[in-house]
Amino acid sequence: MVSRTIETPPFDLIVFGGTGDLAARKLMPALYHRDQAGQIPADARIIGASRRAMSSEDYVNFVRHALKTFVAADDLTPELEAKFLARISYHAVDAGSAAGWPELAAALADKEDRVRAFYLAVGPDLFKPICEHIAAFKLVTPLARVVVEKPLGHDGASAFEVNEAISKVFAEPQVFRIDHYLGKETVQNLMALRFANRLLEPVWNAMHIDHIQITVAEDLGAGERAGYYDTSGALRDMVQNHMLQLLCLVAMEPPDRFNADEVRDEKLKILKGLVPITPTTSPLVTVRGQYKAGASAGGAVPGYLDELAVAHGTPKGTAESDTETFVAIKAEIANWRWAGVPFYLRTGKRLADRKSEIIVTFRPISHSIFSENAGQIHPNRLVIRLQPDEGVTLLTMIKDPGPGGMRLRQIPLDMTFAGTFGGRNPDAYERLLMDVMRGDQTLFMRRDELAAAWRWIDPILSAWATNHEAPKPYTAGSWGPSASIALIERDGRTWFEDVQ
Ligand code: BG6
Repeated sequence: MVSRTIETPPFDLIVFGGTGDLAARKLMPALYHRDQAGQIPADARIIGASRRAMSSEDYVNFVRHALKTFVAADDLTPELEAKFLARISYHAVDAGSAAGWPELAAALADKEDRVRAFYLAVGPDLFKPICEHIAAFKLVTPLARVVVEKPLGHDGASAFEVNEAISKVFAEPQVFRIDHYLGKETVQNLMALRFANRLLEPVWNAMHIDHIQITVAEDLGAGERAGYYDTSGALRDMVQNHMLQLLCLVAMEPPDRFNADEVRDEKLKILKGLVPITPTTSPLVTVRGQYKAGASAGGAVPGYLDELAVAHGTPKGTAESDTETFVAIKAEIANWRWAGVPFYLRTGKRLADRKSEIIVTFRPISHSIFSENAGQIHPNRLVIRLQPDEGVTLLTMIKDPGPGGMRLRQIPLDMTFAGTFGGRNPDAYERLLMDVMRGDQTLFMRRDELAAAWRWIDPILSAWATNHEAPKPYTAGSWGPSASIALIERDGRTWFEDVQ
């Protein structure tokens, strides 16, 4: 891969929840890889913070273990590891009291003029007290910023409260709301594909596009996260954020410039243009599902309720839950470009495969000059694969080579990024963390975007509640409840299956 590395300005990164899963699994490995690439300045410091009493030495061991577990052995060299670990220190602080804060403040005091990023890798109930302590101990410097992740609220009202608490301490240009899907290579490529090519934009509208599908399918179940997941469900966990962000990038108007405010202004317009779902339309345009036992990823797997019982420490067969692990939605955008073009969204756990893709199906040609013997002419499809094997495929009609008259055949014009560019595909967090240090908010959600996303999601939640729409069971390892097939087939369309 041809990569270009621009060193970030010197920074102090303070990771609250530094001993947690996100820090171990994602943040530390991402920072290590950026250090390996030479992107982290020599004197940048990474400070773990959490309630747990622990010495910096113990924390360095925690990070060493995280790297060993989550970084490929080939990428770990003793020199680089030592260089990275030398940046690490630890402070025990209590979100709910002043304990530990003066010591943290003292540790930061000598470098007030550099970028100072507070990463809140903690539950949202701690955002407010942590922000209050950051303010009380005067830690907000001119180059300070805060990074937060979902769940940013449970609905529009609670999201408002979380954002209010943050905004009392940090101005909007200092707030970086992560949606890790925006850091994925192919998601950014969507913008290059749309706005750096002449070819697509003229046909990127209702006149030429029949419909768009966005599928984010996982083969894994809720597993150990079932306890948390049960308070959320697929609509909040995946649609409110990741899927709506994908939809925005596919559907938005070209921003005048590729910068944070202009890109986010255009995304906001799409969110505002989504047609509201009501208790009357909900049964026709949404499907909820919950997996039961089945087979997935090569073996028998339990159903969601049994995983939940394990998470709650209660006997098998005793858990009850109406939380959806699958959702399919037919969304529509009421604007000039997209009126009449359905966007079919589908996401779920324990589905047949792990794949995330966006499929743009064009309208059929207006008139065929070929005889019926030539075979069927399939509409063009553009398949944008986010994972696995990132790439773009254009399904195109050609003449079947060789003699035998005019016979038409569909073939994939294939661009597999992994194959084309080779090398390691950087994790989304690598890009996003470096953007935080550079102060670039383009790939982060603005407050009004988040509010607009909830304004569309809240009525779906209340329609389900009003209609008592319980999730429909589906067998683990399938493609979800049959109602989801009906959702799209009612319109004479089908969910896209793999490129043949
Ligand atoms: C997270 C969700 O945001 O995204 C998880 O909370 C989900 O439930 C995950 O598994 C999927 O991310 P990725 O990058 O593996 O597609």
